Amino acid sequence: MGSGIYDFYFHHDPAEVSKCMLCYDPECAKACPQSADIGGIIRSLYFQDYMAAVRKLNCDCTCCNAPCEEACLLSRENRPVAIRDLLTNVRKDRHLLPKHRIETIDISTDICGVKLENPFLLSSSVVSSSYDMCRRAFEAGWAGASLKTICNFSQHEASPRFSALKNHANAFCGFKNIEQLSPRTVEEDMQVIGKLRKDFPSKVIIASIMGQNENEWTELASKCEKAGASVIECNFSCPNMEAASLGVTIGQSEELTERFTRAVRRGTDLPVLAKLTPNITDIVPLALAARRGGADGIAAINTINSITGVDIDTLVAEPSVRGKSMVGGYSGAAVKPIALRFISDLFRCKELDGTHVSGMGGIETWIDALEFILLGAGSVQVTTAVMQYGYRIIEDLIEGLSEYMKGRGISSVRDLVGGAAETVVDHNSIERDTIVFPTFDYESCNGCGRCYISCMDGGHQAITLDPETRKPKLNGKRCVGCHLCRLVCPEMAIRPAAKYWMPDYKNFNL
Ligand SMILES: Cc1cc2nc3c(=O)[nH]c(=O)nc-3n(C[C@H](O)[C@H](O)[C@H](O)COP(=O)(O)O)c2cc1C
Repeated sequence: MGSGIYDFYFHHDPAEVSKCMLCYDPECAKACPQSADIGGIIRSLYFQDYMAAVRKLNCDCTCCNAPCEEACLLSRENRPVAIRDLLTNVRKDRHLLPKHRIETIDISTDICGVKLENPFLLSSSVVSSSYDMCRRAFEAGWAGASLKTICNFSQHEASPRFSALKNHANAFCGFKNIEQLSPRTVEEDMQVIGKLRKDFPSKVIIASIMGQNENEWTELASKCEKAGASVIECNFSCPNMEAASLGVTIGQSEELTERFTRAVRRGTDLPVLAKLTPNITDIVPLALAARRGGADGIAAINTINSITGVDIDTLVAEPSVRGKSMVGGYSGAAVKPIALRFISDLFRCKELDGTHVSGMGGIETWIDALEFILLGAGSVQVTTAVMQYGYRIIEDLIEGLSEYMKGRGISSVRDLVGGAAETVVDHNSIERDTIVFPTFDYESCNGCGRCYISCMDGGHQAITLDPETRKPKLNGKRCVGCHLCRLVCPEMAIRPAAKYWMPDYKNFNL
């Protein structure tokens, strides 16, 4: 039996896990007579950190009447999380832990020579907007932080300034903000950098800056270096600025990107990252412009221009600021595929060889982070998931990545960078002559018929349902191997066949 992520996934009930509210100081754990780390275990499941969940389990759940479920805050509504079932299933996964694993791994890496104890950083935003917040994040285990963008002009923020799209479990699918930059003076921000540098000498302090002209860009970079920053990040990408000449406007122009990067380069010897915007067609020319201006690396992506929705009672777009709204920056889980595409474009560009890429956009779990790394990110940054779940997710990120590396015998995280990059090929290079049929696991299938509905109305009418058993049957002559059925199956009872088939063999029937 393998220990692929799906082998673990099959034993769990994601709907039950996502019912958990991930409470602060959870009552369930306090009620456990065996002092099991219930909050930690369920959080590991929530963030797909299955191996860590198995390792954390220290109780057998047979000695009590599940007082944890009674203590669950949802029991007040008579719908507690089925903690005992979840933990019992985790116990069943023990045999899936890799038989051979290495114990010594190195998750440290660097940004252009500046050492990071792990690849995980806070990205520039509210989550890194004061000394105290960064202190708590560093103590929790984050390797560093890109501070809320420092600038020389005062901010005038709107309220409310956020809105979110949510899934059925009330978690953010996507998140919109119309926020601007640091509310502090440059001098106050320099004090924050200085104090962080003094109190946390091993943490990486990235000074995110935005100037209004070349002189300001140069001066801010120079001041941040003197105050103790480790890296300078040029914010060429904030989509929410009131002045049209700032933020994203720079990142949409090769000329301005090169000019202002050069201005920053004049002010500092520290590594310089250009933080680029996804609100363009092709990121590569902008990255090359930043390189010409003297940038050592690229940070991507900032938020995507968006309108998250309209309140259908008030007829106002969201968030409503006294009856009006504006296009704002979209982030969180929904933007991950778009961010990954940009990371892949940057890493695959030969002229950018050796350029550090600090990736971000929708990272919530260690798997998300690993995907960025595998497509070429040398470090990763997070905001929206921290806004939603807190600094504590760093434990899940580190645990998940470490377990994966140990199980796979990968001793250094650096060996993972770009590991999947070559699998992304041009449109004309993709194999188009073979079909992979879906196969049905009739034991897991509960006969819901979702595969049938989707194949009939969104596929190629290749599935019939047995009227007696309600189980699906594939007509190999009609099936084109699109795998819509597999993607909609709520029970994950459909998998790809192990073999490829040439279209000539389409008389194959399951
Ligand atoms: C509320 C909020 C404020 C932000 N402020 C800044 C900022 O001041 N400077 C900046 O470069 N990016 C800012 N960002 C963008 C984030 O750093 C990050 O690029 C983006 O949110 C994508 O990552 P995520 O999906 O992990 O949030 C902000 C994002 C949010 C949600």
